[in-house]
Order: sequence, then structure tokens, then C-alpha cells
Amino acid sequence: MTTSDPEPVQIREVLSVRRAVCPGSFDPVTNGHIDIVQRAASLFDEVVVAVGINKSKNRLFTAEERMEMLSQAVAHLPNVKVDGFSGLLTAFCQEHDIHAIVKGLRAVTDFDYELQMAQMNSSLADVETVFVPTSPEYSFLASSLVKEVAAFGGDVSSLVPPFVHQRLTARLKEKAAE
Ligand code: PNS
Repeated sequence: MTTSDPEPVQIREVLSVRRAVCPGSFDPVTNGHIDIVQRAASLFDEVVVAVGINKSKNRLFTAEERMEMLSQAVAHLPNVKVDGFSGLLTAFCQEHDIHAIVKGLRAVTDFDYELQMAQMNSSLADVETVFVPTSPEYSFLASSLVKEVAAFGGDVSSLVPPFVHQRLTARLKEKAAE
């Protein structure tokens, strides 16, 4: 090394992987979710899409089904994997050495609750929340609305991947026949 060479970069910095989590219920995954995951994948080295499997909400799809659909939806992204978590998101982050949570913000109405969660999460663990603005074409999109519109016979085929649309239609048919 000569005197004009730059300072050696710390090995730890070179080796450290920038890892983020995209958490959610994904019941089912929509094109809006995929947009956010894709953009997170371009910002971070590794992205874990974490499906919340807490039993508090009524779901149309089981955790396994939601994870299966997500895995198919992100199969084209080599640095993205899908996992499930129960309990606190911050505990999942600590277990997996994750220090960033990526959340999509659709509108200012999302912001209040998301800010509160971000602040709570950073008080619980060493994690920052990164907000990514939803692409305008998906700003109205929510899994709950997709399910409601589909249940009443509305066309949601442009809002979810084709294989999700098929499974959604089939599941709603099964439910209607119960
Ligand atoms: O898609 P959703 O339903 O908006 O996802 C919400 C989710 C799963 C990201 C959120 O409920 C969550 O993080 N749950 C895990 C429990 C937890 O950590 N709660 C404290 C949040 S400050």
C-alpha cells in the first residue's frame, strides 16, 4: 500500500449484507404487494417477505397457501425469499439479523398507523422502517377490497397475478357453496 492509497475499508462493512423484511398478511398477494417487494429487492441485498401468521384475523387463505402464492409471485426475484412469522415482527427481525422493515404507503391515511408502528418497532429493536410510496396505479389496492369486489362478482383480474385470481375465484366459490 502506498501513502496515496485510500484507507482500507473495514472488512465488516464489506461483508455485511443489507437485509430487509416486507411484512404483511398477504391474504392474498396483490400486484401492489409485488411492486413494493420488487422495489425493496432493488434497494437491499436480501429481502424476506414475511407472512404474519398470528391467529387474530379471519383469513380467506391459510398461512401455507398465502406463502405458496407469494413464493410463486416473487420467483423471478433471486434475492427474495418468503417466510412466515408469528408473534412480534421485531422478534423475527432480531432472529434473522434484519435491521430494515419496508412498508408501502398508499395514501396519507396509511401514514398515521404506519408511523405509530414504525416508532413502536424501533423502540423494541434495532430496526428502521423504510416507507416506499406505492406506484399510483396501485394506490387504491388492498387485499380486503380485492376479496370483497371478487366476492360480489367484480373483475379483479388486473389487480392480482393470474394464478392468484384463479385460486381466489375457486376459494370464493367453495365458500359460497358452504
Ligand atoms: O398486511 P397487514 O395486515 O397490514 O400486515 C400487518 C402486519 C402483519 C405487518 C402487522 O400486523 C405486524 O407486524 N404484526 C406482527 C405483530 C407485531 O409485531 N405487532 C406490533 C406492531 S408495532
